[in-house]
Amino acid sequence: MISRRVFVLGATGTIGRATARALLERGHEVVCFVRRCAGVGGGLAPDDSVRLLAGATVRFGDVTDPRSLAADGFCGERFDAWVSCLASRTGSPQDAWAIDHRAHLHALAAARAAGVSHVVLLSAICVQKPRLAFQQAKLAFEQALIESGIGYSIVRPTAFFKSLSGQVERVKRGKPFLVFGDGTLTSCKPISDADLAAYLADCLTDATRLNRVLPIGGPGDAITPRQQGEHLFALLGRTPQFRHVPVGLLDAIIGVLGALGRLAPALAAKAELARIGRYYATESMLVLDPLTGLYDAAATPSTGVDTLFDFYAGLVRGDVAPERGDHAVF
Ligand SMILES: NC(=O)c1ccc[n+]([C@@H]2O[C@H](COP(=O)([O-])OP(=O)(O)OC[C@H]3O[C@@H](n4cnc5c(N)ncnc54)[C@H](OP(=O)(O)O)[C@@H]3O)[C@@H](O)[C@H]2O)c1
Repeated sequence: MISRRVFVLGATGTIGRATARALLERGHEVVCFVRRCAGVGGGLAPDDSVRLLAGATVRFGDVTDPRSLAADGFCGERFDAWVSCLASRTGSPQDAWAIDHRAHLHALAAARAAGVSHVVLLSAICVQKPRLAFQQAKLAFEQALIESGIGYSIVRPTAFFKSLSGQVERVKRGKPFLVFGDGTLTSCKPISDADLAAYLADCLTDATRLNRVLPIGGPGDAITPRQQGEHLFALLGRTPQFRHVPVGLLDAIIGVLGALGRLAPALAAKAELARIGRYYATESMLVLDPLTGLYDAAATPSTGVDTLFDFYAGLVRGDVAPERGDHAVF
């Protein structure tokens, strides 16, 4: 195994922290550039980030400022690779363009100056059907990266466990499992943080992943929200109980917030969140066949060993702490 000097952005996020760990496990030298108040709600102080990323060098600064990226992040040193798990936490159009696009462009310029020859980018499978601002921002940077001439591996994962676990606590409390429509409108191949992190880290040494856009899911068959609920009730030893939410309800919310959002920016941001919710309520996280316009589970590659159902079992036993996804619908 060849050890590389790797610059990491987004290392305090769900996938970023797992990826920093995976890179260290593979013997790479890891430098993480993070903000002083990091984590959900800015709850991580600098010492917390250093503890969280033990084994890596942690540097502090502002990823939105090209001068800080160069002076506080890359520090005039040479790096072999840049791995980005950086992503807007809110998904609001303004934040998405600032982080998923502009900050990435600045980092790409700084990475080039630092001699980086390979960029591993955590993207999302949903950019194949870009309807939302954050998807368009991600796609615009993907394109800039492809055109940059620097080696790239653009990884587009399906759904994360945290985004599919938001209802475990409420169901444990005796409430029904909420589904849109009959619960079979969408399906996905969930991927764990550790399996995705391993996949991202291995992009640095697997020549077949160089200069490729890589959709990736977890092991096993694709599953629907209804199957997720059924399995959860089976784990709890209870009869499945579903509450069906019409997609039209989200359309109504989007319509009202969209109209009011023309007067109040705060409501425009809420309208975008509702649009994000509607997207995930109706679009599968699987490879989209461009010819048929249909999602194709068989064409969606799998990696790793962790299953969502094992993760649910851990949540039900209380061995695993639940983490809410920023874009979770329920
Ligand atoms: N959720 C899903 O099911 C799913 C599925 C497929 C793909 N994805 C994609 O995966 C990506 C990452 O997901 P994740 O769950 O790991 O994200 P996350 O937990 O929200 O982490 C985002 C990272 O970006 C950093 N960041 C955001 N805004 C920043 C700013 N202004 N300045 C500095 N750092 C900033 C965060 O730093 P702080 O800790 O300082 O905030 C954090 O390290 C996203 O692009 C998402 O679209 C998600």
